[in-house]
Amino acid sequence: MSHTNASSAGQFTLGDLQIHRLGFGAMRITGRGIWGEPDDRAEALRTLRRLPELGVNFIDTADSYGPYVSEDLIREALHPYDGLLIATKGGLTRSGPDQWAPVGRPEYLRQCVHMSLRRLGVERIDLWQLHRIDAKVPREEQFEVIREMQKEGLIRHVGLSEVGIEEIEAARKIFRVVTVQNRYNLIDRGSEAVLDYCSENGIGFIPWFPLAAGDLAKPGSKLDEIARKAGATTSQVALAWVLRRSPVMLPIPGTGKVAHLDDNVAGAGIQLSDVDFRTLDSLGRAASA
Ligand SMILES: NC(=O)c1ccc[n+]([C@@H]2O[C@H](COP(=O)([O-])OP(=O)(O)OC[C@H]3O[C@@H](n4cnc5c(N)ncnc54)[C@H](OP(=O)(O)O)[C@@H]3O)[C@@H](O)[C@H]2O)c1
Repeated sequence: MSHTNASSAGQFTLGDLQIHRLGFGAMRITGRGIWGEPDDRAEALRTLRRLPELGVNFIDTADSYGPYVSEDLIREALHPYDGLLIATKGGLTRSGPDQWAPVGRPEYLRQCVHMSLRRLGVERIDLWQLHRIDAKVPREEQFEVIREMQKEGLIRHVGLSEVGIEEIEAARKIFRVVTVQNRYNLIDRGSEAVLDYCSENGIGFIPWFPLAAGDLAKPGSKLDEIARKAGATTSQVALAWVLRRSPVMLPIPGTGKVAHLDDNVAGAGIQLSDVDFRTLDSLGRAASA
């Protein structure tokens, strides 16, 4: 069992809320294709209940995970969320396993927020993220309804997902953007400029798929060597690298298994040397190119 606590990752102030930088992604506590109930529901609930024991106080979910299954399990395991920040998302519809389609019509986004409030059993969502900007709807209409819901007190803070700098700037004209959630990991560096923008502007950057290391993790590789030296796995080192990359970085590795959660939290305790950090940085950039 791991003795590392998520606090080893350091703190971040999200709007007016303090969190430990290592969070949890609750997408993997659902069925295959992020559809329906998980294969092992009891283990999924145990995983969620282990989070506060490990100091993880930032949980990322979405109404579309299951759909609804992830939010429902979070409520079952953790309500009333003492000291936990539950972040959810809306704006993606589901029609089957691995099927995702954005709908950004204002009345639908409003319904997403109301239904997440009901499922999570809260009066206000601490962080609500627009899962995708819907290209079929003028983005100002999507941003406006979010601003309204924030004014009405349904949403405390607002985040965006899978966006570029120009989109973040357009949204910031209408509401304060506290987080951006884009795919990012050691070998997937397509959002490097967005990450730099977030770092410069104090916006939390939530990298999804943070554990990936691809071929860099092969036995005998530099990453493998660094991991062995640290007595760690290659994904723990990949996570430690992500955490070290920026103080606004808020990774949310996801799992439906207690043992994997323990491993991931232990990754937060790994301190990479400057040399190892830079070596992995350049190997990752080359792999991503
Ligand atoms: N904004 C978006 O569009 C978007 C898209 C995708 C995901 N997300 C969010 O980002 C979170 C993380 O993304 P992700 O789940 O794609 O990537 P991830 O956390 O990097 O990887 C999760 C995968 O790795 C496995 N895993 C986790 N810990 C492990 C360990 N210690 N040892 C071995 N395998 C392990 C999990 O399977 P097991 O369950 O078997 O452990 C799962 O298959 C999601 O939960 C979700 O909240 C957001």
